[in-house]
Parts: sequence; structure tokens; C-alpha cells
Amino acid sequence: MKQSISSCFPHTRMRRWRQTAWSRSLVRETTLLPSDLIYPLFVIEGQNQISAVTHMPGVNRYSIDLLIQEVKQCYDLGIRTVALFPSVDSRKKSQNCEEAWNKDNLVCRAVKAVKDAVPEMGVMLDVALDPYNSDGHDGYLRNGVIDNDRTNEALVKQSLVQCQAGADILGPSDMMDGRISFIRKALEENGFHDTLLMAYAAKYASVFYGPFRNAVQSDQSLTGDKKTYQMDIANSDEAMREIALDLQEGADAVIVKPGTFYLDICYRASITFNCPIFAYQVSGEYAMLRYGIDNGLYPEMETTLESLLSFKRAGCRGVLTYFAKQAAEYLEHHPTGENRGSIR
Ligand code: PBG
Repeated sequence: MKQSISSCFPHTRMRRWRQTAWSRSLVRETTLLPSDLIYPLFVIEGQNQISAVTHMPGVNRYSIDLLIQEVKQCYDLGIRTVALFPSVDSRKKSQNCEEAWNKDNLVCRAVKAVKDAVPEMGVMLDVALDPYNSDGHDGYLRNGVIDNDRTNEALVKQSLVQCQAGADILGPSDMMDGRISFIRKALEENGFHDTLLMAYAAKYASVFYGPFRNAVQSDQSLTGDKKTYQMDIANSDEAMREIALDLQEGADAVIVKPGTFYLDICYRASITFNCPIFAYQVSGEYAMLRYGIDNGLYPEMETTLESLLSFKRAGCRGVLTYFAKQAAEYLEHHPTGENRGSIR
């Protein structure tokens, strides 16, 4: 326990430490490093293809050859983990989602190519059926009902091809009950003892995933919402139960998603559980900030860093963010996050 010893004004002046950039940086409690950031990247078929994501200015989908260039640049900037998301052609989507465990599918080819080109970069892949599902859901939809247990079997097949292709981290983002234990058991049985499971444990049924669904083209087919598997936005105790369950089932880390509007959950998780907690600053949160920045409401870099630092302050070990590359570029030249003189 820390002792609380304090004097009063004028012996204590809280502003003393705030006078200069060097003194502010000396007593700063949290910091942001490029290696705290996980950069989500969208992948498309083809050669030399790049396509802008609607409503996410600055975010693109890349064909594998261009993806590799992007990953190399990120590595040089100090980013050490990327998360790949495939934008799958609608002709490859079906009710049974077989493309999810085709070992030559887009995301498997992408992870192989990235690991060949930049072996030191950690690569995370999403485990969920939505990119491959003609119903647009993360689980099998049968007669209007999500089939939890059959989905788990499919997620296991998807996980194994993704590991075989070279994924370092699997991120089950589907919110089916029991999927972490299914996947962990299959990984152990198949010799993937060191594959990390970063479970989207507290994933809310949020409206802020809209731009992402557009980016991976899962919005066109989606019927209804995801409220029977993603969490009720009003709940906090339930998030702690979800996290506890995923850890018991074998998760190595957990994600709170979205991040910004759920900083209370990040903080509560970080003081409750002794494991790495990550936040996902999701597509809609990125878009909100981006639109404000692009319309001159607030400055780009300070906005980016302030938004990301909030997750570290809330106790997160790191953040999945579409701002990762920009933030890393900025931190390279301004390691303390400050760049302008301030008045005293
Ligand atoms: C799908 C998935 C989603 C995101 C990551 N994986 C969307 C959803 O659950 O509908 C959202 C990411 C974002 O909005 O940036 N399993």
C-alpha cells in the first residue's frame, strides 16, 4: 500500500511538473509504443490491387503483393503485429461456409506470404464465419436460429487451416459459447502448442462495426442483427463472466470491443484479471475520429495519440487500431508524443 503524504498550497503546486516537456515526460504514467499496436489490414484477390474502404478514409484493401509492402513498412516503423481480414468474393460465400477451411483461401495465402516476407512480424487472423457466410452471420444460421454447437465444429476446422498457413495468433471473434475450449483442444491435439488465442471475450452488439462490415462485404448479405451472440451494450458484470470463461477455456489474452465507448470495461477487466487485455478501436470509432480530423475539428496526430493513450491508461496492454501506422510514423519523430512548444 502506498502512503499518502501531502502538503498543501503553496508547498504543493501540481503545476511544477507540468512546466516543461522534459518534466512532463519524466513523470508520465503511461506511454504509447508502436509495438503496443496491432494493425488490422484488409486483403483482396488480385495483383497490384488497392481499393479504398468507404467511410474509412485512409484505410485500403490490398492484394497480397501490395499487402506485403505495407507490412514491411509497418515493421520498419516498429509495429510488430498485424491482423489480416479477407474481403471474400460473394461467389465464394455459402450457407456452409466451406471456404473458411479451404487451405488455399485468400487469408491463408495472405498469412503465408506475409510470414515468408517478414517472418518477424506477428500475424493474427480472425476466427469467425462471417466473411464466408452467405447469411453474413458469424455462426451458422438455420431456420432463423444460430446453431452454436455446429458453428464450433466449423470454427475448429477454420482454426486448423489458419494455423497450418502460419498464423501466430487466432482471434475468435464470433462469440459462440464454448468455442475457446473447442479450438484450444484441437490446437493441442494437432501440435499447435504455441499458437496464441486472443479471444474477443467481451464483444458487444455495437453499431460501430458498420464500416468494417462494408470493408469485408459482409453487410450486403447480413439479415437481422447479432444480438443473440454479441453482448448487450448495457452489461458490465456479464463481460467479466465472459472473460473469466474464455480464460478458463484456454485463452492467452482477451479483447474488449469496441474500445472507446467501453473503457469502463477495459479498466474493470484490467484490475480484475491477471492477463493481457487488449482493446479494439473499431471501424466506426476510427471513422468518427477521422471525419472530425478531416473536417478540421481537431488535429490529426494529437487526436490519434490521445485516443490510443486512453486504452493504455485504462489498463490495456495494447490496442487494435486502424491508426496504427500513422501513430507509429508520428512516434518515430516524436517519441514523447509532444511536438509543439507550450506556454508557461
Ligand atoms: C466479425 C468481426 C467484426 C469486426 C471484427 N471481426 C464485425 C462484426 O462482428 O460484425 C469488427 C471490427 C471493426 O468494426 O473494426 N467477426
